[in-house]
Amino acid sequence: MPSAIEAPVTDAVWSANPYQPHAARIVRIYNMVENNHLFTLRFVDEDIGLSFRHRPGQFAMLSIPGTGEAPISISSSPSRPGVLELCVRRAGRVTNALYRMKTNDLVGLRGPYGNGFPVTEIEGHDLLLAAGGLGMAPLRSLLWYALDNRDRFGRVTLMYGARTPADMLFREELVSLVDRTDMNCLLTVDTDPGSVWKNHVGLLPGLFDHAEIDASRTFAAVCGPPVVYKFILRKLLDLGFRKDRILMSLERRMKCGVGKCGHCSIGYKYTCLNGPIFTYWDAINLPEMI
Ligand SMILES: Cc1cc2nc3c(=O)[nH]c(=O)nc-3n(C[C@H](O)[C@H](O)[C@H](O)COP(=O)(O)OP(=O)(O)OC[C@H]3O[C@@H](n4cnc5c(N)ncnc54)[C@H](O)[C@@H]3O)c2cc1C
Ligand code: FES
Repeated sequence: MPSAIEAPVTDAVWSANPYQPHAARIVRIYNMVENNHLFTLRFVDEDIGLSFRHRPGQFAMLSIPGTGEAPISISSSPSRPGVLELCVRRAGRVTNALYRMKTNDLVGLRGPYGNGFPVTEIEGHDLLLAAGGLGMAPLRSLLWYALDNRDRFGRVTLMYGARTPADMLFREELVSLVDRTDMNCLLTVDTDPGSVWKNHVGLLPGLFDHAEIDASRTFAAVCGPPVVYKFILRKLLDLGFRKDRILMSLERRMKCGVGKCGHCSIGYKYTCLNGPIFTYWDAINLPEMI
């Protein structure tokens, strides 16, 4: 069965020296959820900013001078150029250093890397996005790409689950999509301790009861912790999804980001080159992938 993944987007400015980070200014820091901030960055060199073209699902290597680098998904859509938005969870050395920074401070960025979602192949089909927790970070780029190019896609459905309303990333933005008539935005929380939540309560797979999905004409993009893959993949297969139309964004430890160091290998695949987007077909042929 063919893989649904296309070749990476490349650009001359970026391929000239793939290890060289470019200075980017933090123009906004938005505290979405405790320890999950959305950083809006703008390249200092305008030409670099203009030449940076990414595909939803690709990532950038974010560097903090004197500290190190970390791969972070690009959460903004290429349909909204000019700035890049990174949703960063505070995890260790690099992200802690980023959290100490303020607006107007400079970070380094190189990329974009990885394959990204095969958007031209998805176009003309229905699109189902299913995310749990931080999985919304890479899927948000695809969501806005589809909404900004609405006529190129069939039915668009988002299913997103968080533990509580307070844990939901991009909450205001996503809640504002619930009333849109050109998509089905389904949001759920495991529990609603404050009884403030006006959307669904219950586990993510329960949202399938509220969606109209025709597996024969739909691509599914899935991202989240392992439990999300476990239950969503089962549901998609039960619905009759083709294995090469289930797309998953997977994370591995990375160092170079450009296929040189071998840190991110899974079997014969490099996550930084052949991923981070893999089809379910890839996953069953590389069982250690999830
Ligand atoms: C393609 C891709 C996209 C990503 N997108 C995002 C994103 O959008 N947002 C986001 O917040 N994160 C994202 N990540 C994850 C992020 O890159 C990691 O959390 C990264 O480690 C953070 O760097 P750090 O220096 O802050 O943390 P680190 O210092 O690397 O520590 C992170 C965690 O890993 C543990 N750890 C450190 N070293 C090791 C080791 N050798 N073996 C096992 N565990 C170790 C630490 O204890 C800590 O819990 C992405 C990762 C990939 C590969
Ligand atoms: S991170 Fe170095 S080969 Fe993928």
